[in-house]
Amino acid sequence: MISIINPFNGKPLHKEGDFLKDDEGNEFPIVNEVPRFVPADNYTANFGFQWNKFQKTQIDREQKNSTFTKERFFTATLWDKEDLTGKNILEVGSGAGRFTQVVLDYTNANLYSLDYSDAVTANYKNNCHHANRLNLFQASIYEMPFPDNSFDKVFCFGVLQHTPDFKKSIQSLVDKAKPGGEIAVDFYPIKGWYSKVNAKYILRPWTKKMSHEKLLNKIERNANGLIKTYKVIDKMGLAMVGHRFLPMADINRTMPDNLSKNELREWVILDTFDMYSPQYDNPQRIKTVKKWMEEAGVKITFADFITYANNLKAAVVRGIKL
Ligand SMILES: C[S@@+](CC[C@H](N)C(=O)[O-])C[C@H]1O[C@@H](n2cnc3c(N)ncnc32)[C@H](O)[C@@H]1O
Repeated sequence: MISIINPFNGKPLHKEGDFLKDDEGNEFPIVNEVPRFVPADNYTANFGFQWNKFQKTQIDREQKNSTFTKERFFTATLWDKEDLTGKNILEVGSGAGRFTQVVLDYTNANLYSLDYSDAVTANYKNNCHHANRLNLFQASIYEMPFPDNSFDKVFCFGVLQHTPDFKKSIQSLVDKAKPGGEIAVDFYPIKGWYSKVNAKYILRPWTKKMSHEKLLNKIERNANGLIKTYKVIDKMGLAMVGHRFLPMADINRTMPDNLSKNELREWVILDTFDMYSPQYDNPQRIKTVKKWMEEAGVKITFADFITYANNLKAAVVRGIKL
């Protein structure tokens, strides 16, 4: 069991009605079954909106025979399912809970999972049948409600580039792992000067300021046309250049290859909103993340691209806390 503490003064918390309270009278509300340690309105409101709208879209369990997220999780971590029995795992930035589902459905670990946004409401709906092993919180990576040196394993997938201070976020993750515990992260990589020559980085200064409804509406109206254009560019053999300048998620490099037409449209809308709405989007070089992990006190065991699900790639750094 991991003790739950007030992240702002380190005091233990106990449940009293619909609140977690400490002995100084500080209290945190439990809303929709999830304790909340942050203001409802914060820089991740776009993610709360997105994950509650698309609660089930990327959850393996909701697609027939899908192992897409499962493959990414076990390829990125190389963690052994049996070995995780009874272990305490921390997941940071869980969104709608695609990885939460994988950990809970395929292992017998105890999972402590948090997100800064109201995505936790969607995650709870997706995974509450595992309530005996799932401990979910709305909290920030910088102020987590657990003591330092607590967890056997820590993972954070698809999140770090969306935090205001990538390096500080890494230190926060490492702080929560036990000495000898393992930390695994994946993130948007910078591969070269061309990484930021992309419609996303040209348009984001405007799109991130748009209302969520307006942006989503725009993407929904244009989705069919964009998918058609993407496929034409593909057929012409111009993918490497063409896809970069289409304002949409890159189907071939980020999505499962067995989606139906309707599923593909939904993934494109979700992932395009996910690209254009966040406040922060700071990709990093793998070697930089490796260096920051080392500086945070981690012995690196892997720092490279992994390949999963028929040739998709993700930038992963993994290591053991010294
Ligand atoms: C692109 S989503 C990824 C969600 C999930 N890991 C997945 O792959 O589906 C990024 C998530 O990071 C969360 N996030 C951003 N900043 C955070 C912070 N400071 N603390 C905790 N979570 C944060 C967002 O709310 C969002 O749900």
